[in-house]
Amino acid sequence: MSQNIESTLVENRRFPASESFIHNAQHSPEQIQALYEQAENDYEGFWKEQAEAKIDWSKPFSSVLSTERAPHFEWFNDGEVNVSYNCIDRHLEERAHQTAIIFEGERGDTRHITYKELHDEVCRFANALKVNGIQKGDRVVIYMPMIAHAVVAMQACARIGATHSVVFGGFSAEALRDRVADAGAKMIITADGGFRGGKTVRLKDAVDAALEGNPLSVEKVVVLKRTGDDIEMKEGRDVWWDEFEAGMSNYCDPVPVEAEHPLFILYTSGSTGKPKGVQHSSAGYLLGAITTMQWVFDVNPNKDVYWCTADVGWITGHTYVAYGPLAVGATQVIYEGVPMVPDAGRFWKVCEDHKVTTFYTAPTAIRALMKAGEQFPDQYDLSALRLLGTVGEPINPEAWMWYYEKIGASKCPIVDTWWQTETGANMIAPVPQTTDCKPGSCTRPLPGIDAIIVDEEGNEITTPNQGGYLVIRKPWPSMIRTVWNDDERFQNTYYPMFDGKYYLAGDNARKDEDGYFWIMGRTDDVLNVSGHRLGTMEIESALVAHEAVAEAAVVGMPHEVKGEAVLAFVICKGDRPEGEAADALVKELREWVSQQIGPIAKPDQIRFADNLPKTRSGKIMRRLLRSIGKGEEITSDISTLENPAIVAQLQGKA
Ligand code: WT7
Repeated sequence: MSQNIESTLVENRRFPASESFIHNAQHSPEQIQALYEQAENDYEGFWKEQAEAKIDWSKPFSSVLSTERAPHFEWFNDGEVNVSYNCIDRHLEERAHQTAIIFEGERGDTRHITYKELHDEVCRFANALKVNGIQKGDRVVIYMPMIAHAVVAMQACARIGATHSVVFGGFSAEALRDRVADAGAKMIITADGGFRGGKTVRLKDAVDAALEGNPLSVEKVVVLKRTGDDIEMKEGRDVWWDEFEAGMSNYCDPVPVEAEHPLFILYTSGSTGKPKGVQHSSAGYLLGAITTMQWVFDVNPNKDVYWCTADVGWITGHTYVAYGPLAVGATQVIYEGVPMVPDAGRFWKVCEDHKVTTFYTAPTAIRALMKAGEQFPDQYDLSALRLLGTVGEPINPEAWMWYYEKIGASKCPIVDTWWQTETGANMIAPVPQTTDCKPGSCTRPLPGIDAIIVDEEGNEITTPNQGGYLVIRKPWPSMIRTVWNDDERFQNTYYPMFDGKYYLAGDNARKDEDGYFWIMGRTDDVLNVSGHRLGTMEIESALVAHEAVAEAAVVGMPHEVKGEAVLAFVICKGDRPEGEAADALVKELREWVSQQIGPIAKPDQIRFADNLPKTRSGKIMRRLLRSIGKGEEITSDISTLENPAIVAQLQGKA
């Protein structure tokens, strides 16, 4: 698989941080350089020092890294912490009246919440959880709009040691049911609905549907009133948020938990089977959130207004909304809606209104906003911005330059952060004081992160620009601990090769002459649609669950804004539909997938065929399907296929 791609475009422009950025940064370039060196020379000593300095421990640790259960690595495992205490209580002396969260709803309602107010809200909710029988280790599913209450619910779970599992509000009832069942959740915290994309999303209806006729473990459903839409409340099971926490005390003792205690489970797609529950720790995870907030985002809690646009339903919304910014005592913006409502100026208006200094979003959003035109950012005062970030997929140099010039006024470093649900925190990203940015590259591994590129045999590839597997050689504190309830799947997915020595990220990457990393895409059947991860198999399973479908194959195809779009080849039971019947079935199948998984998984294109291209042993030739999706000329020899004639039909030529 390792391929030499020197022929592809080489991006040589470099963008160092400005002197004024470096001057105002929390760490000097020399201090950052010293971190890289210390981590290089004394890996465990480095992480030990970081953990001691940056976390308030309920009980100090003596063990740094434990490898007895490798590859289920453990960090600081004889120590105890409370994550909510670290995010809230420890700031109260200095920051009680500082705004922790500036919330803005899609319809324009705003709310400022100080650290003291956040403390009181989290405590009331945590007390209510306890009174209702939620204990340390119980699982609580959170299915909410992107509002401050979602963070309150997460922090309240962390406070009492309950393990939360947030399910993105854009997932369907079916998807929610699977996750609730897998996690064995005792409770669901939700809202009547939320405002998104100019519409209301009826979350409570989906919860009802997910729980219908199902002997699931859920005993209680807590419902926040957000939209005021009519919903059904089931006697004995459902309770309004306000009633739930009524009369509860504003103080709740944070429960110390073991460093390895699962703070949360977050489901993510892989190449096979149902989404897997990525299990994260408490202390190691917290440490990853804090160090990266400081190094990559250089957040100054006394000056910055930080805004990460991700929803709490994704890992970015966990580490860089619910935990990281609070753990460092920052002021952050939380915005409920989408970038295009009421128009493509919304993000820039929010930046102006709240004087955002640090802005973190996905390349897909940047591309969509760039397409809308510069008249939108031109209307707003973006002069408070001093650092920009991207995450989720590679950013094309054109979008990078637009972001740099039009949004950042050519004075803000852009931190392109490579990481994954499983890594817990940024892994490969610039520390802007020391690492110049290059458009399209996530630059270099952070201090204490041992990322390399290897060939099939696990040998490090040192030839510049030669692609290979991206792996992480040494364990790191914020890494995934296991797949919830499935250690074997964890081992098979992340440590399948190289004698179990390296964590396999599932990405292809190359390193240039300067040692900069360039992510080239997934090595597995995982799609990246608008920065969201989708398994092709998940969509295929959804399609074949429809009565009209006999077989389906899903591949990604390049898309100008989404990065990748979903293309489905569908074989029907009976005759291949044509004309109006085909159009109607396309519509129905798109709707069907939306119901089975969620709107994000809707195929952009569905093509009906009589068959799929298969090898003589019956394997679907996905590579060929991908080429067809890209509209490429098929140059490979297809005569060895079981059914070579099908290729022309799939291309629409027959
Ligand atoms: C996959 C992980 C981590 C938060 C969002 C996505 C791709 C992520 C970058 C980047 C190029 C990136 C990778 C990775 N990815 N960040 N800066 N440049 N590709 O989390 O859903 O777990 O997906 O997203 O392919 O493996 P995720």
